[in-house]
Amino acid sequence: MQKILEIKNLSVNYPVSSELFGTTKEYIHALNNVSLDIYKGEVLGLVGESGCGKSTLGKAALRLISSEGNILFNEKNIKDFNKKEIKTFRKNAQLIFQNPFSSLNPRMTVREILQEPLIIHGVRGKTVINEKILNILKLTGLDEETLSRYPHEFSGGQRQRIAIARALILRPVFLVADEPVSALDVSIQAQIIKLLMELKDKMQLTILFVSHDLGVVKYISDRVAVMYLGEIVEIAASDELFKNPKHPYTKALLSAVPTVGSKKYTDTVKIEGDLPSPKNPPKACKFHTRCPFAMKICSEIAPEYTRFSATHKAKCHLFKE
Ligand SMILES: Nc1ncnc2c1ncn2[C@@H]1O[C@H](COP(=O)(O)OP(=O)(O)OP(=O)(O)O)[C@@H](O)[C@H]1O
Ligand code: SF4
Ligand SMILES: [Mg+2]
Repeated sequence: MQKILEIKNLSVNYPVSSELFGTTKEYIHALNNVSLDIYKGEVLGLVGESGCGKSTLGKAALRLISSEGNILFNEKNIKDFNKKEIKTFRKNAQLIFQNPFSSLNPRMTVREILQEPLIIHGVRGKTVINEKILNILKLTGLDEETLSRYPHEFSGGQRQRIAIARALILRPVFLVADEPVSALDVSIQAQIIKLLMELKDKMQLTILFVSHDLGVVKYISDRVAVMYLGEIVEIAASDELFKNPKHPYTKALLSAVPTVGSKKYTDTVKIEGDLPSPKNPPKACKFHTRCPFAMKICSEIAPEYTRFSATHKAKCHLFKE
């Protein structure tokens, strides 16, 4: 399978001032040495508790925030891109956000919203621009009469369609969808998910789909990566992950939503307490402060990945031979 994105040892540490006048710098270790391949044409689900670093990974992968480590896009390091290459990358790799209420400029009509990326990327000629706009409207299930209206005139679901249309009008190949349906009513969520699946096929998209809704992730993803405190603790093909989760944290996530996991695991692992602060994360296995199976070694040595199949691996000392 062809890799569209290779993330290698990616870390993000956000500096925060811990004292009033900012004399002491502390860091939020939001992403810790993450390596991850994303294959052409797949939907890779990314799940984990609020604050575990999902959005940070999505933004770092698009070079929207600075990070340590490397990101190869079609085998080229995006950190080495010159201005022109960055512009092409911006066209090819897009982001849609959770909140279609804040991500659309309220003072622009839908036509202006949709033509802005075209103009920025040098598309010229009224006829060509109009053709592209009409085409993306059709693909995203919007009417032509939408064009003269403003974002506030639409419902949440329609606004997310507009945001999707804007993200896809430049025909990107890679899309980071960061909780794209979490702010929508459940009935509308299904429509938007269905739309994304259709667009993925029609436009041959690769999608990094960030969500904490395991039901949605199970439905849409080919593979699923589970994050805990800035690390990917388990990754597997979607059906394998939901049928046969290995990492105690994955099992706990599935136990919390019995309808999405296989029956075997529905009530096996319960975790308590909140996510520890990423300012001062636990050493070694970061999950040891909450893991019901924690052993002495877990707080001393960080576990490496154990591989269970070609697509399935997890970081946990329980599987050491
Ligand atoms: N710009 C920033 N400056 C400082 N800290 C940040 C910044 N952005 C995120 N963080 C912190 O980094 C950690 C990871 O945040 P991130 O937004 O990536 O998590 P998330 O998994 O997307 O959470 P959620 O599910 O709530 O969206 C959190 O502790 C968050 O508070
Ligand atoms: S390494 Fe230890 S603490 Fe971490 S998940 Fe495995 S058993 Fe639990
Ligand atoms: Mg987020």
